[in-house]
Amino acid sequence: MKEKLEEISENLNNLKINSKEELENFRLKYLSRKGILNDLFEEFKQVPNELKKDLGKLMNVVKTNVQIKFDEATEKFKKNKKTNLEDKIDFTLPADGTENGSRHPLNIIENKIVSIFNKLGFTIAEGPEIENDWHNFSALNFPLNHPARDMQDTFFIYEDIALRTHTSSVQVRLMQKKNPPLRAIMPGRVYRNEAISARANCFFHQIEGIYIDEKVSFADLKQTLYAFVKEMFGDDVEVRFRPSYFPFTEPSAEMDISCQICKGNGCNVCKHSGWVEILGCGLIDPNVLKNCGIDTEKYSGFAFGMGIERITMLKYDVKDLRTFFINDSRFLKQFSSI
Ligand code: DAH
Repeated sequence: MKEKLEEISENLNNLKINSKEELENFRLKYLSRKGILNDLFEEFKQVPNELKKDLGKLMNVVKTNVQIKFDEATEKFKKNKKTNLEDKIDFTLPADGTENGSRHPLNIIENKIVSIFNKLGFTIAEGPEIENDWHNFSALNFPLNHPARDMQDTFFIYEDIALRTHTSSVQVRLMQKKNPPLRAIMPGRVYRNEAISARANCFFHQIEGIYIDEKVSFADLKQTLYAFVKEMFGDDVEVRFRPSYFPFTEPSAEMDISCQICKGNGCNVCKHSGWVEILGCGLIDPNVLKNCGIDTEKYSGFAFGMGIERITMLKYDVKDLRTFFINDSRFLKQFSSI
């Protein structure tokens, strides 16, 4: 038995395990139930007692060496295994939960407004945020040095170039590019040099709308806007028009709706009047149509413009306009299910 053990030791010293397959063969040969080590221990039981001490020591050395050899090779192939992407990643594990983002409330309301006007046949048009004087003012019937230009505090870049103060500039671009009939809305960001407060910001968002065709009248304007507010705020919303002034419309009006916060009973938002203004509108001044090359004998049109922030504040009862621009996720998360 001693020779056998020495032979095994010798073999172990020379043995190299080069693959997983060889490792498995090694395990079967030495460590399995029918393997060499088990056989040796069986045989050991028959050994006369006086030889047991020496042989036992030798057996333990062999056993330990077999185990070391096996463990080393197992470790080696485990490492090699790791270079394989498939083995490194356990594809059976459940995926990490990812948090869903939410749409910005201004975005939700803009989409809603756009979809209502889409249903009424309005297409979408866009224009640049950096505008020249002609598109932002002159073509819209703001004469040079006219006090109406002071209605909007402007960020000038050069004398003749500014950040647009309203999306009305896009109507001019559209009228220049396309012939009537025209029916379009123009969403976008606008800029004004105003002190930032709960009710004003130096940039905000507007949606402009125009409709130009033969025989368009104020009645068409009213019906279109009625249809819009009913879709937007519900059937029981009340509407009123007040005469107003804009250089680019004649006649001009501002449209109020019954306060959605207090339902007309009076609150801070409507300054206890029960009404809140939501947009400006009017029939497009023939001077504007002429400036854009449209035949005023044949065509007339209406236009309107509204602030998206204002409508969003009314819709969701948001008290401070600045919360739209801080991007605090605690505020934005509230809109995730809408
Ligand atoms: N451009 C105006 C503003 O920013 C809003 C406006 C009023 C647009 C009347 C219009 C309109 O098209 O007809 O205050």
